[in-house]
Amino acid sequence: MIKDLEELQKKAEEELSRAGTEEELLVIKTKYLGRKGLLTGLLRNITSLPTEERALFGKRSNEVKDILTAKIEDILQDIASRKRDETLLRERIDVTLPGRGIRYGRIHPVTQVSREICDIFAGLGFSVVEGPEVELDYYNFEALNIPKDHPARDMQDTFYVEENIVLRTHTSPVQIRTMEKQKPPVRILSPGRVYRPDSDVSHTPMFHQIEGLLVDRGITFGDLKGVLTFFIKKVFGEETAIRFRPSFFPFTEPSAEVDIQCVMCHGSGCRVCGQSGWLEILGSGMVDPEVFKNVGYDPEEVSGFAFGLGLERIAMLKYGVSDIRLFFENEWRFLEQF
Ligand code: DAH
Repeated sequence: MIKDLEELQKKAEEELSRAGTEEELLVIKTKYLGRKGLLTGLLRNITSLPTEERALFGKRSNEVKDILTAKIEDILQDIASRKRDETLLRERIDVTLPGRGIRYGRIHPVTQVSREICDIFAGLGFSVVEGPEVELDYYNFEALNIPKDHPARDMQDTFYVEENIVLRTHTSPVQIRTMEKQKPPVRILSPGRVYRPDSDVSHTPMFHQIEGLLVDRGITFGDLKGVLTFFIKKVFGEETAIRFRPSFFPFTEPSAEVDIQCVMCHGSGCRVCGQSGWLEILGSGMVDPEVFKNVGYDPEEVSGFAFGLGLERIAMLKYGVSDIRLFFENEWRFLEQF
């Protein structure tokens, strides 16, 4: 009987040494150590032994049981640790690889310029107001002293929505809307989108302007020159040479366009400034008495100046951008530079 026990242990160990998976181990465990297993089978025959041998046989069979149980436990642990190693190997990551960077958003250059200009004028007491982009013909033209069929309308090609409704061609209508609502004094700045059916390296159908208007008693052309000179030097630098050149706008009299010395050639003449050495940056003038009458202001009582500028143009000159369309393509390699 003891011999059977030893035989059983040897066979079980042999089988265990060949077992490679948890499932195989469990099969072997049940086969030898299970309730209906071989070891239990041997123990059942214990009654056929002489009494003095029974104790020894019982002791030996417990030992065999413990040995086999421990072996199975060992092998199970081996399998588990092998599995873990395999998983680690399979799921290994190279922590030295460069990561995928997060790209930060930025403020669009046109918005940056707009904010910069608004800040400068805020310092002079101007407040920011906005107006509608879909505008009545009356505000975009009529009230600004540009009657229907007047040749001045040709200065600004226009998108018509309906007969008397347009996409505003400039921010000047905000002057009228503001003065209609407010008694003088007025000091406003109005940034926003404007529209004209134009498209080339320096024109897009939509672009941005800022309008400025100051009305009070006793405002002179000297105030216009002083304020605009202060502003231009803030944006382009204290050393910037500035020129006021007589011009015409229906809503101002007298009118002036303001030029700065060419930022590319510093006045010697180049392709950017058309060899003139100067770059036009804004239109301005003393508010025409007709405009005051249209909003119920008395031109004998008050006077004022107004100006309008294109934001993309300012941004192009400030940052040396040669094609306006770059501002609207939203190519990140372009935008990232500002
Ligand atoms: N509205 C004009 C334009 O878009 C620009 C302008 C000129 C605005 C003179 C003004 C001004 O306020 O006084 O071409």
